Formats: sequence, C-alpha cells, structure tokens
Amino acid sequence: MDSIRVTGNGPLKGAIPIAGAKNACLALMPATLLSDEPLTLTNAPRLSDIKTMKTLLESLGAEVSRMADGQVLAMSTHGAINHVADYEIVRKMRASNLVLGPLLAREGRAVVSLPGGCAIGARPMDIHITGLEAMGAVIELKDGYLHAEAPKGGLKGAVINFAFASVGATENLLMAATLAKGTTVINNAAREPEIVDLADCLRKMGAQIEGDGTSSITIQGVDRLGGATHPVVTDRIELGTYMLAPVIAGGEVELLGGRRDLLGAFCDKLEEAGVEISQNEGSLTVRGTGRVKAVDVVTAPFPGFPTDLQAQMMALMCTAEGTAVLEEKIFENRFMHAPELVRMGAAIDVQGGTATVTGVERLKGAPVMATDLRASVSLILAGLAAEGETIVNRVYHLDRGYERLEEKLGAVGANVERVQGS
Ligand code: UD1
Repeated sequence: MDSIRVTGNGPLKGAIPIAGAKNACLALMPATLLSDEPLTLTNAPRLSDIKTMKTLLESLGAEVSRMADGQVLAMSTHGAINHVADYEIVRKMRASNLVLGPLLAREGRAVVSLPGGCAIGARPMDIHITGLEAMGAVIELKDGYLHAEAPKGGLKGAVINFAFASVGATENLLMAATLAKGTTVINNAAREPEIVDLADCLRKMGAQIEGDGTSSITIQGVDRLGGATHPVVTDRIELGTYMLAPVIAGGEVELLGGRRDLLGAFCDKLEEAGVEISQNEGSLTVRGTGRVKAVDVVTAPFPGFPTDLQAQMMALMCTAEGTAVLEEKIFENRFMHAPELVRMGAAIDVQGGTATVTGVERLKGAPVMATDLRASVSLILAGLAAEGETIVNRVYHLDRGYERLEEKLGAVGANVERVQGS
C-alpha cells in the first residue's frame, strides 16, 4: 500500500490549479440516466471516486468515456438499461446512492444496494426514501438493497419537507423530480454550490428548476430531457485544503480557479485567525503571516463552515496561539484524525462531537494512519508544519478526493513524495 512522506521545509511559493469538484461531478454523472442524448462534463477531476461512479453507470448500461487526459467525461445512456446497482460497486462509495432518483425517474424502478464510503458515521438514507415516497414511490429494504418502484405513469410531483438539509437527498430528489408529473417543491433543501451546479446542468438539459441555492427548490416536471455540455464547478474543498498549506507552512500561494463565494464562512474564519486572503480575477491568493490565532469552529450546512474542511482546520489549530473549540455537527464520528495528530505532538481533547485544541509551538513528524479522505489530508497539512518527517499510511483514501496531490504541493515547494508500497 502506498504512503506519503512529508518533510516540513519552510515557506511555500507559487500557484496551485484547483480541479473540478468531486462532489459536484458525482452528482452530475448520474444525470446521464435521465436522457437518451449525450451528456458531456468538462473540468472533471481525475479521482478514484469518479472511476467508481463510471464503473457503476457502465454496469447500468451507460457508455462513459474519459477524454482530454481524463478531464472530459462523455456519457450516453440510450435504449434499455439495467436498474440494479450492485453491492460490489456501491459499497465503495456512498455517493453511489445518487443513481436511485434518476433510475426511478427513467425506469420506474430501481434496486440499489445501501451504500458504503468513508467510515464517518451511520449516514442513513431515510431522507432520500421519505422524499421519494412522497412522490409516490414504494420502497422496501430487502437483503441490504433498497427496492423502489414508482407508481404507474411515473413519479408524481409533491411538496417535500426535509427533516435535515441533506446534500445527497436534495440531489436525488432534484433529479427524480425533473421527469415527474407536475410540480415538486423541496423545502429545507441543501444550498451547497454543488446543488446549484447540478441544477444548472439539468436546466441545460431542459429541466425547469427554480430556487436552487436557496432552501426551497421548485421543479416543474417535463416529459423528456435532452443532452448538454457542462463544466464542473471548482472543488471548494480542494481549494480550502490548499489555502491552508501556506498558512501552516508559511509563504504565499495563488489558488487558480479559487472563488471566495464558494467558501464564505471558511474564509471569514481564516481572516479571524489572522490570515490574509485576496480575491483576484479567476484566483485567490493566501498569505501566511506567522502563527495564527486560535478560532472556534462549528460545522454546518452551506453557507456555514464545511464539515469536509474540519479536519484540515484542526491541523491548523494544532499550532495556533491559544485554545480552539471545534464542534462537528454534521457527522457523529468525524474526529478520527485527532489521535493521529496527537501522535505528532498536538494537544487535543475530544468529548463527543467537540474537540478542544490547545495550540503548541511546533508539531513533530511521526508515522500516522489515514482514516478517511479529509482526515488523510489533514495529516499531510500537519506534516508541512512539523519538525522532521511524517509518513502518512493508507493513502488510498486520499486518491478518492485529491488528484496529483504530491505534484500540486511539490510545485509550490513542499517536500511531499509518494512512497510506493509493496
Ligand atoms: C455530501 C458530501 C460529503 C459531505 C456531506 C455534508 C458528496 C458526494 N458528499 O455527503 O462530502 O461531507 O455532503 O456536507 O456530495 N442523513 C440522514 N439521513 C439521510 C441523509 C443524510 O440522517 O437520508 C444525515 C447523515 O448521516 C449526515 C448528515 O445527514 O449526518 C449529512 O448528510 P448529507 O448532507 O446527506 O451528506 P452526503 O450527501 O452523504
């Protein structure tokens, strides 16, 4: 198994290009199931999670090819398709559940294994299920699979009130409603930029959607959707992660494609901690200004502080001046990076969903274990600030969400290298 060796070696300088968003792309790809015509995504990230979604869509009968060095995904789903999403593929990634809504809309039936993915909590699917049931679907759980059947004549528009602003449920229902009979209103919908990106793409395909980016989305069902070409929105989590690199290691880095509106609350927190951020045309520049001040963080749905940047923020707080309290409100088991950071000399006390981090002057390199996607990258960031060498093991988690991480960080002067495992 590969590992990554990080040696803290001082200030970073240069530019890092930010890829298209993994989470947007994973929601956009299943939209191919809604049309017989081709759907082409540009600015697609080259990640193992995207490969998993490609394999899943192919298993359902879609044609998916990667072009232009992998950054263009040309998809086409015509004719009869399979409606069973197999456990062997779905278990690798929770986002596989995003084929449920499109399959029900197109085929009137779907059998989808309950998903796997990062081990960061129970992550049930009740909000997806209740929403689809409100549209007339009958859904049963049998042998680890959800068996869903639309009513005769297809899904029906409905007013759906989500118990929580779930990102995946909003995406599934949004896609399902595009081809339903009548009008669907999703209340307490998620407002993440990835939802807006999906709605933009669906509109290009002919869907009638209003209100995406707010808590109430209205979808007027249409009889059919056509093809489209759509660029995937910038990955705000990759952006936020690399914004922290010059803050932790020192220096100044330009994030190409960076947009402040994708990360409002995160940028506000960094500025509160003393970081300088400037928005240029088409990029963001971040300047490390020495040891930051400790700031408290509470994760929340967009536009709040993203849970997917909590681990990275914790890495920064490990060497901040003062004590920071980090509250994780989205997932119940998302502090697995804390004991690993402690192995590097951090002072962290975890009580339930709250972590109290007392900044130390310097971390020390150590062998550490990546436990999930964002936890892995937090250990790499911590390694940039540590004295000596940090070896991050189990980096397959990283490859799910960060393309060419060692190249991107290496290009701004970080000493990060992949060590091939046996
Ligand atoms: C998406 C992102 C993930 C991010 C998360 C929260 C993708 C592919 N993944 O995941 O990176 O961390 O949003 O921003 O886009 N929940 C339920 N019942 C449900 C659905 C969710 O209880 O039916 C709970 C989950 O267990 C979790 C919380 O709601 O505690 C948030 O989940 P959700 O917003 O659905 O996240 P995902 O779409 O899985």
